[in-house]
Amino acid sequence: MKNQSFQKAPHALRGEIAIPGDKSISHRAIMLGSLAKGKTVITNFLDGEDCLHTIDIFRAFGVSIEQKGKTVTIESDGYAHFTEPKTPLYFGNSGTTARLMLGILSGLPLFTTLYGDPYLTVRPMERVLTPLSLMGASIDGRENGHYLPMAVRGKRLQSITYELPVKSAQVKSAVLLAGLFADGTTRVIEQAKTRDHTENMLRAFGADLTVDGLQVSITNKNTLSPDDVLVPGDISSAAFFIVAAALVKDSKVTFKNVGLNETRTGILDVLHQMGADIQILNEREVSGEVLGDILVTYKKLQSTTIDGTLMPRLIDEIPIIALLATQAEGVTVIKDAEELRVKETDRIKAVVDVLSTLGARVEETEDGMIIHGQKTLHGGEIKSYHDHRIAMMGVIASLITTDDVILDDTSSINISYPSFFEDLNKLIAKNDRG
Ligand code: S3P
Repeated sequence: MKNQSFQKAPHALRGEIAIPGDKSISHRAIMLGSLAKGKTVITNFLDGEDCLHTIDIFRAFGVSIEQKGKTVTIESDGYAHFTEPKTPLYFGNSGTTARLMLGILSGLPLFTTLYGDPYLTVRPMERVLTPLSLMGASIDGRENGHYLPMAVRGKRLQSITYELPVKSAQVKSAVLLAGLFADGTTRVIEQAKTRDHTENMLRAFGADLTVDGLQVSITNKNTLSPDDVLVPGDISSAAFFIVAAALVKDSKVTFKNVGLNETRTGILDVLHQMGADIQILNEREVSGEVLGDILVTYKKLQSTTIDGTLMPRLIDEIPIIALLATQAEGVTVIKDAEELRVKETDRIKAVVDVLSTLGARVEETEDGMIIHGQKTLHGGEIKSYHDHRIAMMGVIASLITTDDVILDDTSSINISYPSFFEDLNKLIAKNDRG
């Protein structure tokens, strides 16, 4: 929707919502369910645009995938029976699909061509191309293979031991997935632990994978066995309303069945550091992933510093945490966040632009930002940069501004959280009823 106006809303948020399925886990469930031979049923699948592109890609290989809302049934003869797609594969805005698929496609005996939307087309791909080329992959693309559109001629790969130069779960996952098809044992060594959903799910599907500290090893295995997947709620989506509840006086919200994998819960650590009132209830393990309910009650917060190994555990939450920091007491420093510059947009620039336009005092640094707290936000006209997380941050900001917030475009929110406005209205309406 273009030029949507959000009226300053004095409402507190109250009640309970179930957060939609995790984007990272939904992608991986489609990928592994399609590579495996047999039937996989995925429940609480995220039916956001990015994950729907992943479904379409595997349908192009002849895999039968039936999607009814949040339930997906895959029936596959296994990767050995994939057919070569006759048309280019479209990845939309999805960096996760593009990078992980480059790993898979490098090792399958198929020729494929890949393209995305204008935003994905300028995101760096050499970070996966470099290790995959060392494995013997045959990939080419625009500007010496650095950007989409790309073409892959899949072939038998050799294993490698690779020290990741970037803290990226997408690069780690691309190499591990290629390792499924490589001779011998492929090893990836991380600088800091990034999300490990690929490792958890590969193990659940019967892959020969071991984790030793920051090193993950995978040995070629000819088949994967199907496994039903219950996708936990996405903590990166919950983050917008967790922060809203922490920002708006008198709020009290329970988020049901949220993924609590410790590679993703950096935002909860930061909220604790800032003095927030957060409780975790009903913690349990399902399909190799920890989930539970999160109860957040409004409380005044203090500033903090976010850096180092915490960063990969909350990288997608920085835009909404930055909004929170504008209201905390003191100065919040965010550093070691240079990866934000290559997300759906340059999120350091976008966050600084949006928050400054709304009246915050924020300084851009090379690898992060400095945010001066307790500043009244007045509202204004902001740009979303066609980035779902910037758009949602802008909408949540309107809950605390003294005037209206006007957003150029909110359509990107469908990428990861199609029911965002429905959930927001539920939490506000609940309060109106007392
Ligand atoms: C993702 C990994 C992260 C994250 C992205 C999803 C994944 O990217 O920002 O939204 O599903 O593996 P990087 O691995 O590039 O940091």
